[in-house]
Amino acid sequence: MKEKYKIGIVGFGVMGRGLAFNFESKGFSVVAYDRNFAQMEDFIKTKGEGKKIKVAKTIEKLANCLERPRKILIMVPAGKAVDSIISELLPFLEKGDVLLDGGNSFFKETIKREKELREKGFYFFGLGISGGEEGALKGASIMVGGPFQAWKYIKTPLTAIAAKAFDSSPCAEYLGNDGAGHYVKMVHNAIEYALLQLVSEAYHLLKEVLNFSNEEISHVFKKWGKGELDSYLFKITEIILKKKDKETGKYLIDLILDVAEQKGTGRWISQNSIELGVPAFNFSTAVFFRYISSYKQEREKANKLLFGPKIKKINDKEGFIKALYHALYASEICVFAQGFFLLRSASKEYNWNLDLKNVVRIWQGGCIIRVGFLEKIKLSFAKNPQLQNLLLDEYFRQKLKKIQRNWRKIIISATSNGIPSSGFSSALAYYDSFRCQRLPANLIQAQRDFFGVHGYRRIDKKGFFHTKWENNF
Ligand code: 6PG
Repeated sequence: MKEKYKIGIVGFGVMGRGLAFNFESKGFSVVAYDRNFAQMEDFIKTKGEGKKIKVAKTIEKLANCLERPRKILIMVPAGKAVDSIISELLPFLEKGDVLLDGGNSFFKETIKREKELREKGFYFFGLGISGGEEGALKGASIMVGGPFQAWKYIKTPLTAIAAKAFDSSPCAEYLGNDGAGHYVKMVHNAIEYALLQLVSEAYHLLKEVLNFSNEEISHVFKKWGKGELDSYLFKITEIILKKKDKETGKYLIDLILDVAEQKGTGRWISQNSIELGVPAFNFSTAVFFRYISSYKQEREKANKLLFGPKIKKINDKEGFIKALYHALYASEICVFAQGFFLLRSASKEYNWNLDLKNVVRIWQGGCIIRVGFLEKIKLSFAKNPQLQNLLLDEYFRQKLKKIQRNWRKIIISATSNGIPSSGFSSALAYYDSFRCQRLPANLIQAQRDFFGVHGYRRIDKKGFFHTKWENNF
């Protein structure tokens, strides 16, 4: 009898092949299929010599050489490609086989696919996989959603290829039914968007207010990247800022067009937070920041027409750097608070029963948003699984009490110097709105009632009221 392979991978792009090599190195033989067979074969010939990775010419061949139940990981771009691969696979599968979608799929599509495949007798999982090329190859963070009864078939290989959390446990975990894994990945990406923006605002301030060079800014990130703000994003920023362009000898960062693109997860989470009625200031802000960056020509024009203040240089550079560190820390806490608030609401809405401390744990390694203070967040949820908002946890309450003066100072400095800081400001607006006992929403209600007879509720009696605000109405 021909040897059977452990894992099938459809889609041999950067992520697919990274994962294939990762599985193989942990002792799981792999059979892979890609529409571009020649390229895949070439790659295996040059890089995969002696490895237990077989390339299949057709989907049927891939299906035929897998052990039962088959475990097939689909690594193709989110959207129609996933459906088309599933329909190509189905004729060659048997009931009980397991399909895993490891792309950044929209969670509602995952919910639909899981249901359809369950009705046909297959198991379908949506995997949120974070870590990019390096994570795929050396250890990713894997957020698993799907039918719990089939988790046993994929737990061993997935935990084997996962990164390690602070306590050395694998960063791969079953999180809930159907779309839970892809939803958690979507929130991961929203946090990623927001953190990227904060880091870029810090870079902007250091560059403009302190007039720091790329090397100096890189050094600041290096210094900051210790302790609770030790993070993947600070580390890569430190490296990016030092990189020289081979062709010109200039710093590469200065040659990159200032237009930030996106593939969709940030937009989805902003839409979903609106659907769920959950305030997610920083996530929408980060998406809008990318949009405004894309109006490059318009910005060039406006730059010549619109007035703003002149930048005042700062003398106490060390003080500014310290304040900026606090602003980053405080804002990052608020970003995670918004992410977990969203997860808690979504978990209720879509019946996932998410264990937030598990989510925090698997975000500690391999993924893009890993940061030192995730351990403190894990402790917060371990201590109080019902914690409504991270801001209310004693550790973070005290932390924000201590560092908020500097946070506010940085926003004042950015504003008075005309440097955009919507990431820092949104985080502070979230914090100040959340702790505000009486928001001016009473006036909004009164105005709505004035012009639209929409009614309002009162604080002193029950019911819905309408007032004739002007006597002559
Ligand atoms: C990850 C990343 C990864 C990808 C983003 C980019 O966790 O490894 O999040 O999934 O880099 O999807 O998203 P945008 O192109 O929308 O910025």
